[in-house]
Formats: sequence, structure tokens, C-alpha cells
Amino acid sequence: MAADGETDGKMDGEVGAQAKFHAMTEGTKEDWTIIATHAAEFNRELPARVLSHLKLLDGDYGGFPVDRLTHSLQTASRAHRDGRDEEYVVCALLHDIGDTLGSYNHPDVAAAILKPFVSEKNHWMVANHGLFQGYYFFHHLGLDQNMRDVYKGHEWYDYTAEFCHLYDQAAFDPNYENEALAFFEPMVHRVFAAPRKSIYLKEEDTAA
Ligand SMILES: [Fe+2]
Ligand SMILES: [Fe+2]
Repeated sequence: MAADGETDGKMDGEVGAQAKFHAMTEGTKEDWTIIATHAAEFNRELPARVLSHLKLLDGDYGGFPVDRLTHSLQTASRAHRDGRDEEYVVCALLHDIGDTLGSYNHPDVAAAILKPFVSEKNHWMVANHGLFQGYYFFHHLGLDQNMRDVYKGHEWYDYTAEFCHLYDQAAFDPNYENEALAFFEPMVHRVFAAPRKSIYLKEEDTAA
């Protein structure tokens, strides 16, 4: 840790080493080595940022019988107790993380966050869960309950319908004993440990 302004580390609140360009057209390999070093550290902290953002759902009821964090914990608890694997459980935990910033398209937000770290199947399930969840309430709002059927015949239609039926639509019970968020935190750290795909990864860095 450098406390004297050296560029080999930074203390809390310090900016640390910085690139010298004022426009990317002036960027050098040295500049981008500095930025890549910062990015590696920042990316390692992604699971903690995701968990902090998830906590914003605490106390946010929106008229539901349980708040949105409780709903998330309950969806994940039900999936875990049903024997689902860790990646699935993390998808269940985070499926509504977009409720704060994606008021009109919350599944897209969760899907975007999870995309580098999960299978295409789980990504598709999270991205489309809103349409499938609508089967249980769209008709009460004058909407088409079967909107999900635009995907009828899709290879992951049943998989996503099952997620909503078994876990998501069932996770509004104030009397259900959820696991605490701390129970899921190590799972989030493991799933977010290494991206499988990203435009910033070289081919040889891509996890299988
Ligand atoms: Fe949702
Ligand atoms: Fe949900």
C-alpha cells in the first residue's frame, strides 16, 4: 500500500494512478495498463456491489404482503430447499434486483447483471420471468394472462414456467421461514467469481 503518492497502490479515498489522455485517441498502452489494473480490482468487488444493491429492496413493499427483499430471499430459499444448484439459486435470489431501476422492465436489469456468469438457459429464464409471472396476475389488471405464449414451443418455455410456478409466484408468504441474505452471500461470490463470457475477455480467458 503506497501512502506517498506512488503509483503501485492506493489507500481508501485515493484516486491512485491515472491515465494521462484527455481523449481516447491519445491513449497509450501504459494508460490502459493503469486502467486495466483498476478494473481488475473493481471487478473483484462486483459481488459486494450486487449484494448492496439487492438490499435496496429491503422495506420496499409496493403493496405486496412481503417486501421485495423478503420475496427475493423466499424465492431463493424455496429453490435451494428444492435441491436446485447454486447458479439457479443465485438467479432466484437476484431475479428482481432490477425493481429499483427497471420499473418498466425489471427482468432485463437482472438478466444483464447475470449474463456473463450464468448459462444461456438461466439467463433466458431470468430475462423472461416477468412475462411468465404474468400468467398469475395479468388478467386481474386487464392484460392477457397468456402473454407468455408468444414463446410457446421455445426450448426453455417449460423451464421458465416452472421457475415462476414453483418459486417466484409462491414467494409472498409472510409466515415462510426464509434463509437470511448471509446464507446466500457465499453463493453470490462464487457465481460472480469469473465471467464465462464478456467482450472484454480474450478467447483463452473465457471460462467453459
Ligand atoms: Fe420479477
Ligand atoms: Fe419475483
